[in-house]
Amino acid sequence: MKFFRSVLITGGAGFIGSNFVHYLLKNYPECKITVLDALTYAGNLENLSSVLDDSRVTFIKGSICDPPLVSKAIKGSEAVFNFAAETHVDRSIEEAGSFIQTDVFGTYTLLRQALESGVERFIQISTDEVYGSASDRAFREDSPLKPGNPYSASKCGGDLMSLAFRNTYQAPVVITRSSNNFGPYQHVEKFIPLFITNTIEGKDLPLYGDGMHQRDWIYVDDNCSAIAMVALKGELGAVYNIGAGESRPNLLVAERILDLLGAPKTRIVFIEDRKGHDRVYAMDAKRIRKLGWKPEWDFDRALEQTVKWYCNNREWWESVKSGAFREYYEKHYSKKLKEGKSRGA
Ligand code: NAD
Ligand code: TYD
Repeated sequence: MKFFRSVLITGGAGFIGSNFVHYLLKNYPECKITVLDALTYAGNLENLSSVLDDSRVTFIKGSICDPPLVSKAIKGSEAVFNFAAETHVDRSIEEAGSFIQTDVFGTYTLLRQALESGVERFIQISTDEVYGSASDRAFREDSPLKPGNPYSASKCGGDLMSLAFRNTYQAPVVITRSSNNFGPYQHVEKFIPLFITNTIEGKDLPLYGDGMHQRDWIYVDDNCSAIAMVALKGELGAVYNIGAGESRPNLLVAERILDLLGAPKTRIVFIEDRKGHDRVYAMDAKRIRKLGWKPEWDFDRALEQTVKWYCNNREWWESVKSGAFREYYEKHYSKKLKEGKSRGA
């Protein structure tokens, strides 16, 4: 199917955004890409180092909250993919202002400029976390929004503003809400990369609460193919849930990582639970399946692939872990780890 000739990808130096840039260059080689990224602590130009000299890629450093810059960056783009966001729940619990600024006001700024420039599609990249914790049923796209933390509340703000722009100004908006992603280039503050790299370094694994919180993990490549499909075939104004459809407890994921790296289960330390920790994320993704999408990766194979990637790209994550992250890690985890209980104890 013919793809857009030129697109703007915001947050393209982050985890999913950079994977999406690589995905488009491989699968839609005619497409020209402008990346707009503020390069916050989560943005990393190394994620794009192999394509920065590619004539199809233009990188602009700057914020989606800056209207003149966005107006310049968006020029000529047929579609906008808004990946830019503050994304880490733990950080949002400590300070939510930057989340509101980027995830709500930034999305609004981008929507305005997109309308003005007349793009054909505006794809708002959102999350299953907007529904809050699932109890007995998987959430559908029309389930109520019940955000359980400041990050997901901010993402709700971005989603609602996007839908309001569709209703008020007929902006060409579609929204994707995916479950937890994992794969190459994910920041080491997130669960799977933190646990893989801590295992490699011989450190303990800080598992929140009883470790029985469940997430529906999706390999990042599968999310990229879903996003591309929604951009091409999605109905304007619609929301599409994207998930593999299998939620599993964090404890089992942690144990699988230790197995893959040949480390003992005693490395798991149960620490004081995250505040307001959503217990289960689970979604019904029938709507996107009807468009013809399905995940290509099963969890075990994708986790093996991801562990291999972190083993083979030690320089990448060591440099991320050695910067400001060390201070964050000490502040956030050291007391909790000291007071925690080891898996073997
Ligand atoms: P990430 O934190 O790895 O990357 C975010 C990127 O956005 C970074 O490159 C950062 O520099 C950039 N950014 C932040 N503020 C900006 C601003 N004001 N202007 C321009 N750029 C800015 O995040 P991710 O995990 O790749 O997530 C990408 C998107 O997908 C987010 O919108 C997130 O809510 C959504 N999402 C993520 C997951 C997941 O599991 N990672 C799941 C569902 C949805
Ligand atoms: P995370 O990767 O932060 O994603 P989210 O909170 O957006 O789902 O966390 C995934 C799960 O792993 C979540 O239930 C919290 C848990 N977790 C830990 O137990 N320990 C950790 O150090 C981290 C970062 C997460």
